[in-house]
Amino acid sequence: MKPWRAVVLEPIDKRNYRALFRMQLKPGQESFVTPPRWTLARCYVRLFGESFEHLPHLICADTRIVGYVTTACDPNSADDYWIDDIMIDAANQGQGYGRAAVCATVAMILARYPRCRGVQLTCFRDNRNAEALYRSLGFEPTGGVDSEFGEPNYILRAGALDRLRK
Ligand SMILES: CC(C)(COP(=O)(O)OP(=O)(O)OC[C@H]1O[C@@H](n2cnc3c(N)ncnc32)[C@H](O)[C@@H]1OP(=O)(O)O)[C@@H](O)C(=O)NCCC(=O)NCCS
Repeated sequence: MKPWRAVVLEPIDKRNYRALFRMQLKPGQESFVTPPRWTLARCYVRLFGESFEHLPHLICADTRIVGYVTTACDPNSADDYWIDDIMIDAANQGQGYGRAAVCATVAMILARYPRCRGVQLTCFRDNRNAEALYRSLGFEPTGGVDSEFGEPNYILRAGALDRLRK
């Protein structure tokens, strides 16, 4: 049983953005997530559309930076609240930070967007570890695929969503 990890999401700004470029994936994970150096660009160009708020955050544990997460959310929608990219640095994977970071991200979305009734993400079919994590938290396949990669979308809603409300 892994320990529960306390993580904090820090908005990415000019003081801390360089940490993104030091993050590494494990071999074979390169196609699962947008590389750190690209993830800010997706936010900058508002890839999901002008009605979406795009927010990049570093995932911090104690004084260390262990990963990053980006969200794209339409505050006027019921369930267009997306975790766009999430990554835990290779050296810190498998220690509970990913689970804590997904929970913290969903809690942040629920606190920030009162209309949110569903949080969505895309998980590549080959990304079995991430799929196991999402399913264990209650994410379910929507039956749809993402328009960019053709990979399956998942949604967290109802009781499973409310459990992560702070
Ligand atoms: C997917 C990712 C975010 C998970 O973060 P993590 O810190 O490694 O995961 P955790 O230690 O919190 O484990 C959470 C769950 O993930 C699954 N998991 C993680 N690593 C695993 C491994 N090596 N083998 C099997 N399952 C694994 C398990 O279900 C685990 O639950 P458990 O602790 O009850 O066994 C991280 O591995 C990562 O950044 N991977 C590369 C980028 C990526 O795939 N991002 C997601 C895009 S959808």
